[in-house]
Amino acid sequence: MEIANKIPFLIKTHSLREEVNKMPLLDTKYLNGYKEQRLAHLSLSFITMGYVWQEGEQGSIKALPQNLAIPFWNVSQCLGLPAILVHGDSALANWKKKDPNGPFELENLDVIFSFPGEDSAKGFFLVTLLVEMAAVPGIKAAVTSINAMIQKDDRKLHQALQDIADSIECMVTALKMMQGNVDPQVFYGVIRIFLSGWKDNPSMPDGLVYEGVHEDPKQFSGGSAAQSSVLHCFDALLGVSHSGESGNFLNRMQDYMPPSHRQLIQDIASSPSLQQYIVDSRKPKLQEAFNNCVSQLVKLRNQHIIIVSNFILVPAAKARDIRKKGISNDEILLKAPSALEERGTGGSGIMSFLKSVRDTTKVVCVPSA
Ligand code: ALA
Repeated sequence: MEIANKIPFLIKTHSLREEVNKMPLLDTKYLNGYKEQRLAHLSLSFITMGYVWQEGEQGSIKALPQNLAIPFWNVSQCLGLPAILVHGDSALANWKKKDPNGPFELENLDVIFSFPGEDSAKGFFLVTLLVEMAAVPGIKAAVTSINAMIQKDDRKLHQALQDIADSIECMVTALKMMQGNVDPQVFYGVIRIFLSGWKDNPSMPDGLVYEGVHEDPKQFSGGSAAQSSVLHCFDALLGVSHSGESGNFLNRMQDYMPPSHRQLIQDIASSPSLQQYIVDSRKPKLQEAFNNCVSQLVKLRNQHIIIVSNFILVPAAKARDIRKKGISNDEILLKAPSALEERGTGGSGIMSFLKSVRDTTKVVCVPSA
């Protein structure tokens, strides 16, 4: 915890690796219950990302020392998570309230651990958390809608579908807060590398050896919003089925979720088809409410495309231009990593992936009766 609390400072002073190398070998058996295990995964994942990327993409390492690798691997095994930073760490578990009795709002929230990038790093993690929080009523309503369908209670189903659409709309509003709380250049040039993994990343083509655990290197994808279970749940409920490369990537990202999240997605997916029920009902009100959920999901995915364009594509183009000219007083973009210009930190082909999942979402709309 002492090291994890000082990550931005230790990275800036190039001393995180040195501090980690002095760390005693900790035994995860002393962790007391699920919350402490999640906190351990969170802190060890932040330390690991900092350790790997401390010297930028040219100075990454091939092996994680055993006093970091062993406890990280062990706690990951206990939690059913991979030994890398996942969305469940940085977005779901990395927050605290400043005033414990105050509201769950940006002004009253802080991160537990951070990377260089100061307010933008904090803004990135907390806005992502607010998007997840906005999804909560929708996830609850998804369960209600399945029960209502099974009970053939169409009034209840209609209300649940409205609640889902409202919730997704609130997610769009929350996602827009990225603008204003995160500086695109700082995100691209400073923060992003610390979310990058060692699979599908040209900077670390061989993966990473977890010393004292395995002799062969392991490859794990970096953080990705595709590891958020909420969109998988809405897709499963509405019958949005992604295929090809996008489908494979999304399936693989389920391995980067807490097992209970994975289970919920599977439970929703194995319920009777809501889409079929709506079509068979021949009730225009239900069809309209279902299609409204689909439209909101398309809007959310469009908003994600806009964010990625502003926070990755535009700064990447500027960085390329600066590199070509060779000189600039823009220190941040001059030093920006280039390996993941065209890919997300999770390793997917960024725009082709986002556009394909958006387009697959559109087609589940049901025809009006
Ligand atoms: N997945 C996001 C990115 O590619 C964080 O930058």
